[in-house]
Amino acid sequence: MEPSMKYKIHTFKTATTTAHAVAKILLEASRAKQQKLQILNVAVSGGATPKRLFDLLTEDEFRHAMPWDFVRFFWVDERCVDPADPESNFGMTHHALLQYIPIPAHNIFRMKGENDPAREADRYADLLGKELTERNGFPVFDIILLGIGDDGHTASIFPDNMDLLNSEKSVAVAIHPTSGQKRITLTGKTIMNAEQVIFLVTGKSKSGIIRHIIGKTPEALEYPASYAGNYKGEAFLYLDDDAASEI
Ligand code: 6PG
Repeated sequence: MEPSMKYKIHTFKTATTTAHAVAKILLEASRAKQQKLQILNVAVSGGATPKRLFDLLTEDEFRHAMPWDFVRFFWVDERCVDPADPESNFGMTHHALLQYIPIPAHNIFRMKGENDPAREADRYADLLGKELTERNGFPVFDIILLGIGDDGHTASIFPDNMDLLNSEKSVAVAIHPTSGQKRITLTGKTIMNAEQVIFLVTGKSKSGIIRHIIGKTPEALEYPASYAGNYKGEAFLYLDDDAASEI
């Protein structure tokens, strides 16, 4: 499968101003949904990068402005650990954001890392089938926020498990290639079914990966992130100058 993604690249001086730009997208998108009395269904990733975004969303500019009743949070992926575990993506999001904002508890749909992985992947897939609209047999998120790992992974789709890009399941179990840690992850077809896919990528360590992905180099063929975009084959890249320093 050739990555033929069309990228809309936005670069910013710092990691914070990059995250701020993504926070504004969420604010505008949630307000647009509110005006139509609809809900914004967002799937968020874990890792270090989104934490800066979450911190910003707790600041007055966003905390009081976002129509949280019209926002629902889902997860792109989750480590198969207890939510209290420092590794937990939900736990990180709760500590950085959820505990500070007036979002209704019923608007939060965590992947339950403490459950049996295979059963949890099926449970979450069923939940998405119930909670989201469907296109081509897969659930439709309004926005999926992705990061990119140093090895070119995104979500928990790792280079040694590229078949998750084409899985007929909407949610699957993945295994981290070095730690062996089990993960629950949205699959490629779910990601590529979204209305909007936004990569938030910052830091010098990601500049090489970004160069390969934007340049569609032979190496990029090995990167799952190369294949992630919305249903129209488009992806937004929000990069700080460090991550964008080689393009
Ligand atoms: C996870 C994430 C993962 C992340 C990348 C980038 O569970 O770790 O979902 O896909 O987005 O590993 O992580 P950083 O933001 O920490 O660089």
